[in-house]
Amino acid sequence: MGAVVVVGTHWGDEAKGKLVDLLAQDAELVIRYGGGPNAGHTVHVGESTYKFHLIPSGILNPKTLSIMADGMVIDPATLVREIETLQGVGIDTSNLRISHNAHVILPYHRLLDQLEEKLKGAGAIGTTGRGVGPCYADKASRVGVRMGDLIDPKRLRERLTAALPLKNAILTKVFEAEAVELEALIAELTPLGEKLARYVCDTQALAGEALEANKRILFEGAQATMLDIDGGTYPFVTSSHPISGGACIGTGVPPTAISEILGVVKAYTSRVGAGTVPTELLDERGDKIRERGNEYGTTTGRPRRIGWLDGFALQYAARVNGLTGICIGHLDVLAGFETINICVGYTKNGVLLKHFPAGDVCLMDGCEPVYEALPGWPEDSIDNVTRFEDLPANAQAYVRRVELLAGVPARFVSIGPRRDQTLLTPNSPAPAQLFASPKISLLTEK
Ligand code: IMP
Repeated sequence: MGAVVVVGTHWGDEAKGKLVDLLAQDAELVIRYGGGPNAGHTVHVGESTYKFHLIPSGILNPKTLSIMADGMVIDPATLVREIETLQGVGIDTSNLRISHNAHVILPYHRLLDQLEEKLKGAGAIGTTGRGVGPCYADKASRVGVRMGDLIDPKRLRERLTAALPLKNAILTKVFEAEAVELEALIAELTPLGEKLARYVCDTQALAGEALEANKRILFEGAQATMLDIDGGTYPFVTSSHPISGGACIGTGVPPTAISEILGVVKAYTSRVGAGTVPTELLDERGDKIRERGNEYGTTTGRPRRIGWLDGFALQYAARVNGLTGICIGHLDVLAGFETINICVGYTKNGVLLKHFPAGDVCLMDGCEPVYEALPGWPEDSIDNVTRFEDLPANAQAYVRRVELLAGVPARFVSIGPRRDQTLLTPNSPAPAQLFASPKISLLTEK
């Protein structure tokens, strides 16, 4: 069996959690490979709604091992809260595993995130303020504290003793904030470490064993392609690698283990935070989509910016992620528009661009979207549909156009938040088959 990666194709909030939750029914391991409490996903099961920031959505399936891998940054207080909330509603968390290599978001990371944003003024990124950027910065500067340190009092003291002089110099001298006191910080972190210790282990080894045993692995991406620190709209990006390659970097699983890479595409574009969105709708059409799609951040509650689907960005996402299929979500939200625009390219200074201007947001300056107008479908015409073939013809045509732009098959179409509102497209294999990859024997095994 192989591994399936689920990634967002644009600026996040594509409802990856719903697809992950669906695929997790057939997965033996669900691994979150990057990001931290900046992510937020809502999963609906029956009448209940669960909001997660850190824990992989696979936790709802008791047969699945849910792994928070090396590439993640973890706020231990948030994680303990999530675990206790889940336990409080009767969900078993004993199948959770946390990498000892994952970095810990410390209170001073959150503080620095907010202070830095304030100092940047008009140039602020619009971060979630959860300390994600400063934590990854410390990881790269090799002054980070990892989960393996958090659960070991001696190592925790050593790591913090090494980091604090530097952090306190910045806090007091640059920001004129109060210094962090070592003993108080240790006293705050120790009980959290004690609560989390039972989950912390070598998750690289676990994933390696699972591959050896031919198990089905699902990688749950957080954030999305355009927020990737290298491939996204820098500097308006997050500090990790949400693209499919990040699934290998953040877990120790090799690229050769991956059999399927599914891009989750919202039927329109949304983003939170600053940065260019060429297809942004600043009129009542954007407001209508925002209200119907309940486009308010799961993590910060901020209203999301809304635009027509950026198919040019989708083509880029298909390329950099190596997508093998897409899942088109929120199709129901577009019902009731007479005409739906879809961006099929950009012009700059009147010239049609050959490639998506990725990597730096300034390359997008002056880019104008080129639209194709597609006919819409009536309000309410999608409610209660249970087969792709029963969608209005124009909705099916919209899906086919998006598929053509992506250049890979549309496998699922989502028409509402509930589990049963996900339609499998004709010709798509059953979800379990997505994990199948040919196992080639060694010559010596013949
Ligand atoms: P940070 O990840 O909190 O540093 O924020 C950096 C940028 O990424 C900001 O524009 C955030 O709004 C955005 N961002 C981070 N996580 C998510 C997410 O899960 N969904 C959508 N946007 C996100």
